[in-house]
Amino acid sequence: MTQIALEPISSIKELQRRIRSLATQKNAIILSHYYQRPEIQDIADFVGDSLALARQAQKTKADIIILAGVYFMAETAKLLNPDKKVFIPDVNAGCSLVESCPPIPFKQFIEQYDNRFVMTYINSSIEIKAMSDIICTSSNALKLVQMVPPDKTLIFAPDRHLGEFLQRVTGREMVIWPGQCIVHEEFSADQIKELKKKYPDAKVIVHPECGSSLLEIADFVGSTGQLLKFVQQDSAKRYIVGTEEGIVHQMRKHAPDKEFIVVPPVIGCVACQQCPYMKLNTLEKIYNILLNEPAENEIIIPEDLAERARIPVERMLEWTDK
Ligand code: 13P
Ligand code: SF4
Repeated sequence: MTQIALEPISSIKELQRRIRSLATQKNAIILSHYYQRPEIQDIADFVGDSLALARQAQKTKADIIILAGVYFMAETAKLLNPDKKVFIPDVNAGCSLVESCPPIPFKQFIEQYDNRFVMTYINSSIEIKAMSDIICTSSNALKLVQMVPPDKTLIFAPDRHLGEFLQRVTGREMVIWPGQCIVHEEFSADQIKELKKKYPDAKVIVHPECGSSLLEIADFVGSTGQLLKFVQQDSAKRYIVGTEEGIVHQMRKHAPDKEFIVVPPVIGCVACQQCPYMKLNTLEKIYNILLNEPAENEIIIPEDLAERARIPVERMLEWTDK
């Protein structure tokens, strides 16, 4: 495809208008995660958590999917749509959880256990998915853990905080891989306690990727989609939000009369309530994908790997619906 140079467009509104018009022209769908920049969320066809994004990708009739999120989300969309073109606006939009679980040590780790059942968080590489029995997200993990045959040694990877949370709530013994998210790891229970002193009426809502000291003091723990639903249905007027700040854009839209306080960064940590990977995507990069369909941004997965990784992803969707 002949590459078209991007002319500078100074107005966000004009850029958004051009993206929407090109997306319609090319029958492209833009799927955005809640942690994307607000101006991206605003032009997306769909904004959701990782499970909802996978479901949208599964049912779309579009020819092109642009996944405004991180790499593993685009890979999941491609797994579910092998015949469609799937693009990520910035190929460096990775995830620290994915990096914390490299394939070779993970293979050695799981092979220590006979009669194992490997449940892997969707925040993992395609190679790790291919070694798994089922994938989960933070919205269906509690349900899926309880469906794993009781005689199996349950291995959970790569997020140790989510794994420990599932173990505590369900009582199911697990062998847990020690990975973590660099964003959620930074939130501290002391900061939340300070905020609670200032806003005693506020409810604390956190993502299960946070450490156990936060999860224990939270009024509600859930995936990004579940946190958004909670603030819409709950009666409180103020919330202390322990997750990436992008979600607050939707919270303010859907519950405009409520106040949302994002847990501030610890001293010395600049903007650490922002995911540096999620924030790599920009409107300009999305526009470039639609104009040029750059080969380097297209998700390509070797077929033998895709075949193996697709099985646990499809099993997740099936079991979630049971
Ligand atoms: P959700 O499943 O809640 O969208 O979480 C994905 C994620 O990367 C959180 O850090
Ligand atoms: Fe990965 Fe954490 Fe960013 Fe989510 S917030 S994409 S888990 S690094």
